[in-house]
Amino acid sequence: MYIVLEGIDGAGKSTQIELLKEWLMSNGFQVETVLEPTNSEIGQLIRKFLQDEYATSDYMQKTLGLLFAADRVLLMNKINKLQEENKIILSDRSFYSSLAYQDPVDWIAELNKYAKIPDLVFLLDLDLKTSVTRSGETDEFENEEFLSCVKENYLELAKRNDNFKIIDGNKGPNMVAKDIKNEVAPLLGICKSSIIK
Ligand code: TYD
Repeated sequence: MYIVLEGIDGAGKSTQIELLKEWLMSNGFQVETVLEPTNSEIGQLIRKFLQDEYATSDYMQKTLGLLFAADRVLLMNKINKLQEENKIILSDRSFYSSLAYQDPVDWIAELNKYAKIPDLVFLLDLDLKTSVTRSGETDEFENEEFLSCVKENYLELAKRNDNFKIIDGNKGPNMVAKDIKNEVAPLLGICKSSIIK
């Protein structure tokens, strides 16, 4: 099973991935976590580009769209192998991030047409102000105006894709974790009583 956490910067995805991983492992599942952008050379180049003062400009968004798609092709190969080993894959972001952050959307969709469709996507929905405060504006994407569009794009994606579940990311981490576990438990036959532990 390929489970993805999505959301604007500072939504708490990495914390939730760790909490979910721990809980799944305590229930006897084998779990691997992955992250986009990855640590490949392309991923490292992406992180450098994200710091560029023109990162949200048209030409940089197109460049980033291409780089994210290439980084993802490499990652899909790894995910296929992990799925063959019957592991549960928890991913911090997926091609849906590109659809929410990059432009133009039709072209981005085309570039990502071979990306694996996640079985389940948790969209951690967060207030914009909280996002900007939590992420500390360390790269060019972490400004309120840009993230406001990204948030809208995510909500639109959630409307159009059945694999999305919207989770209120403004709650405390343990409450968010509980909401996520409540969705995952029935799919994996995990007893709901293990959620309160
Ligand atoms: P990162 O520091 O990993 O942020 P976060 O912890 O919020 O994921 O930087 C990743 C940034 O890249 C983040 O601002 C979202 C953006 N991004 C895209 O614009 N497109 C993509 O396809 C992906 C995967 C990420």
